[in-house]
Amino acid sequence: MTTASAPGKIILFGEHAVVYGRPAIAVPVREVIATAEVTDITYTAPGEIHIEAPDIKLDMWLHELIQDHPLARIIHLTLDEIDPKTFPPLRLRITSTIPISSGLGSGTAVSIAVVRALSTHLGQPLPLLRQSALAFEVEKIHHGTPSGIDNTVVIYDQPIYFVQGDEPEILHSKTPFTLVIGDTGRTSPTAVAVSQVRLAWQENTPKYEATFEAIGQIASQARRCIMEDRVQELGPLMNQNQTLLEDIGVSSPELGVLIDAALASGASGAKLSGAGLGGNMIAMVDPDDADQVEIALREAGAVRTLRTEVST
Ligand code: MEV
Repeated sequence: MTTASAPGKIILFGEHAVVYGRPAIAVPVREVIATAEVTDITYTAPGEIHIEAPDIKLDMWLHELIQDHPLARIIHLTLDEIDPKTFPPLRLRITSTIPISSGLGSGTAVSIAVVRALSTHLGQPLPLLRQSALAFEVEKIHHGTPSGIDNTVVIYDQPIYFVQGDEPEILHSKTPFTLVIGDTGRTSPTAVAVSQVRLAWQENTPKYEATFEAIGQIASQARRCIMEDRVQELGPLMNQNQTLLEDIGVSSPELGVLIDAALASGASGAKLSGAGLGGNMIAMVDPDDADQVEIALREAGAVRTLRTEVST
């Protein structure tokens, strides 16, 4: 049996604008993971793969899945890449503690865990950059025009400053900082928010370009704050980023309620994270205040909260 996993992620600054060439900062969230487990089976013909993904109630053979199902796609991409002449029948079991369609990178982590487990089990583990490239292909099914930040941060497994098409920069922070993550419980596929923003951008390009530019500048300022050990300035920058995300229409009442609750209970900044319209929000907290912020978020309706410390 071969097991592999991949972490979740959050976008600290710059979601959406990153799709339009502006910089963004993303951080892995190792408190939640996707796991893929590959086992040889004997009761069927070579080359068959049985897939079990209880979280999405999926239990079927690979050949029964539609070709552009994200799981079928990542398995076929992996097999095409390693091109095994023949292989024994396999069972692929996928489990994940990352909530689905909620901004924490569940689809990406599943893709990368599958590539890792399958390629390793078949004796040809793929290098990180190939894993990332294959996951990126699947991202295109999830949401048409991905920037590539999600697969990149999962592969690097470090906080990154990312601009589409450039080598990502790993961000080193002298002083670790603590984030509380709150889940609105409202799922929201990335594709919906990304295409909503694209339509609005097509209708009013100058306004949206100006907003993306302002978001990109916040991400650049945040990069300097992290590098120059001024992490206490990140909270206010998160608030500015949230205002601009509201301007482009990707916040939601549920996110607003959790963000207000976090700020009222001691967070120095809070914003949605990921595509928005639901999903998760993040709050910058002093570690001593983390408990009270988590309690406040739950009282305000968060279906779950978690805490992560960002350090490199
Ligand atoms: C999703 O985690 C972040 C978005 O900016 C989409 C992308 O970058 O591909 C909304």
